[in-house]
Amino acid sequence: MQTHPAKAKILITRQVFPEVVNFLSSEFEIDYNEGDDVLTAGALRERARDAAGVMCCLTEKIDLAFLEQCVGLKVVSNIAVGYNNIDVAACTLRGVKVTNTPGVLDDTTADLTFALLMATARRVTESEAWLRAGDWKKSFALQQMLGADIHHATLGIIGMGRIGQAIAKRATGFDMTVRYFNRTRLDAATEAKYNVSYATQDAVLRESDFVLVMVPYSAATHHLIGAKEIAMMQPTAILINTARGGVVDDAALIDALKARKIAGAGLDVFENEPLFNPEFLQLRNVTLTPHIGSATRSTRMAMAMLAATNLKAALTGKTPLNCVNP
Ligand code: GLV
Repeated sequence: MQTHPAKAKILITRQVFPEVVNFLSSEFEIDYNEGDDVLTAGALRERARDAAGVMCCLTEKIDLAFLEQCVGLKVVSNIAVGYNNIDVAACTLRGVKVTNTPGVLDDTTADLTFALLMATARRVTESEAWLRAGDWKKSFALQQMLGADIHHATLGIIGMGRIGQAIAKRATGFDMTVRYFNRTRLDAATEAKYNVSYATQDAVLRESDFVLVMVPYSAATHHLIGAKEIAMMQPTAILINTARGGVVDDAALIDALKARKIAGAGLDVFENEPLFNPEFLQLRNVTLTPHIGSATRSTRMAMAMLAATNLKAALTGKTPLNCVNP
């Protein structure tokens, strides 16, 4: 009688798409958290204990305590481009591969970033709330809901990776002047391609009508934009964060918005999601969305499929496309 080797077990920690589960099911025994409740640290450890691979989201903390329990683990495949939920150094030490999903979400995230920029500048959600509240009494008034122009304004981008570049591309259609700061300056050809010019971070903060942060979160970028940086911005300027909560000091931002030290903010990410600082809700000069930067069906499908492909490669002796271990 022919015997088949047991399939390796994988844990899918959050709901994905049926196509993604099907793609993995011929190869692996799957423990699937289809109910989509965020697993507690204890439940995550328990369910991953005998797994060779984990496909997870930024809601799962893959830390030392987790790794110590899951000794058979070979790969952690994050369904996200950011991977600050994973202790990569600890994974590397234990020979656990870590993968992410870059590239497939750049345009979608750039679209949402631009949507937040436009909504905040033109007071879209504030106007809608006002209308819904029954406050629209005069059909037209010259000074009703005056906002800021987007066209011909100066856009400052801090963090000029793939998503920053996709945003710069959109800005050209609005005749914006784009200045950027990045740890490494882009080469001249790329600067020319996106029509962007390099400046110091302070100059970007001081001289932009819109400041966008687009850097990964790490100890080095924690509160990259705090009270001191916000104080450099113009009182008419708007700050946009679609990168990660923690890159901006939310308490400092709230103080600045209350005091009208800057004109507004558009935020898709917050410190301590989903329990963000409730003071944001009291402010009219903010546009708030619940971490939906990459949330279109096709992009979320592409992210989950890429994560599944990375996981499969890592467990079948191939090199995953998007390994982030050094
Ligand atoms: C989402 O926030 C991601 O990092 O992909």
